[in-house]
Amino acid sequence: MSSAPEPTRRRTVYIETYGCQMNVSDSELMYGTLAAQGYDAVDAPDGADVILVNTCAIRENAEQRVIGRLGDLKRYQRRDTVFGVTGCMAQRLGPRLLEQASHVSLVVGPDGYRALPQLIARAQDGERDVFTTFDLEEHYAAITPRRFDGVKAWIPVQRGCDYRCTYCIVPYTRGPERSRALADCVAEVREVVAQGLTEVVLLGQTVNSWTDGTHDFADLVRAVGAVDGIRRVRFTSPHPNDFSDRVIEALASVDAVCEHVHLPMQSGSTRTLKRMLRRYTREEFFACVEKLRAAIPGLGLTTDIIVGFPGERDEDFAETLSAVREIGFDDAFMFKFSMREGTPATRLPAEDLVADDVMADRFETLVATVRSGAREKNLTLLGAEREILIEKGARKGELLQGRTRDFKTVLIPGDDRLIGQYLHVVLTGTTGSTFTGRVLEATPTRASLPIA
Ligand code: 5AD
Ligand code: SF4
Repeated sequence: MSSAPEPTRRRTVYIETYGCQMNVSDSELMYGTLAAQGYDAVDAPDGADVILVNTCAIRENAEQRVIGRLGDLKRYQRRDTVFGVTGCMAQRLGPRLLEQASHVSLVVGPDGYRALPQLIARAQDGERDVFTTFDLEEHYAAITPRRFDGVKAWIPVQRGCDYRCTYCIVPYTRGPERSRALADCVAEVREVVAQGLTEVVLLGQTVNSWTDGTHDFADLVRAVGAVDGIRRVRFTSPHPNDFSDRVIEALASVDAVCEHVHLPMQSGSTRTLKRMLRRYTREEFFACVEKLRAAIPGLGLTTDIIVGFPGERDEDFAETLSAVREIGFDDAFMFKFSMREGTPATRLPAEDLVADDVMADRFETLVATVRSGAREKNLTLLGAEREILIEKGARKGELLQGRTRDFKTVLIPGDDRLIGQYLHVVLTGTTGSTFTGRVLEATPTRASLPIA
């Protein structure tokens, strides 16, 4: 008697993501590409048929973590597991990764994800491939991302970067800037709204320089904000020089655009900014902040700052501290300078390098300055009312984590059924950075509105 044929086993893929939101969004596209080929996403490497590590190259320590993790993941290797490295490190190191990690059989840069199914098939046949060609037309059109966040959607509207900040590896790992057509961006926003999401985050390396040849970022923001059902529009990261009056006017006048801008400053010293090739002075950065604040009342402002860029003197660092104090950022991502191979900063004289201990001291001082400024500001917000969108369960206890439009994190008691809901809260306490809140009332969401 013959037995029934064994059903074909679904193949599984596990992707581990490092780095920025663009990588998170790229992982969603990779999952989408593979889902279309019959792969199921799994949330652990154990037993997965395909294991991909989507990497970041922005700083040396980000790369070291990935190298370590690649070694750890080796223990999940079975006879036919395909291991791949994708993202910025893949682009940067290419064949060197194949040499360093014998279990890795494919290395794919940010413009090569469409080819993943074929590359995986080749790897299953024992080939080892490197795919790092830039494709200026590539926006992953017609690929439906597999989204994991049920509340907000990442919408990549621009890929690559045409600035050449001297410390930065991104122009070399993600290639030249290109913008996706307005109609495609809007179509994706419509799709996510149809799936029940109400917040979108427009992504690009210098997102406010977005242009599809006919429209600018102001047009994009207006078009996205006009999509029926969208309640919150965010964008990251803008460059100060691309905040035209038109763009600021659009941000101020479109109701769905949240009152938060993440505006990377990098340094408060004109001399350092010049050496970084940021293309603005301290005064111009201040002027940009002023314009944004004048146009958008209640604006939350966060930033990125690098300490210890080659040639940064005590006076330069003091200017960064004074800029932090004078501007009063709500928060900042702070980094110690990390020299990246191939960037223009490598050509600065060796004697300009800032010693590790000086860099560490400056970093500590900067963190303390940012934190104390943020705490002072946050204390003044106690008692204020805010609308929050519940994003997820908080790590602590039975709490939920919500976000205000101005990007404050608020913890409230409640159960998971509230995720995705908008609530009106009063801010009752702060750790200095995050808040606790008391719910005043639930504001209606699309889901809870009666169907017309
Ligand atoms: N060293 C340290 N920080 C860096 N960043 C980018 N390149 C480097 C580098 N080589 C920081 C910048 C940027 C953020 C994403 O990472 O502050 O805005
Ligand atoms: Fe890097 Fe500067 Fe481009 Fe930002 S604008 S990605 S810091 S080169």
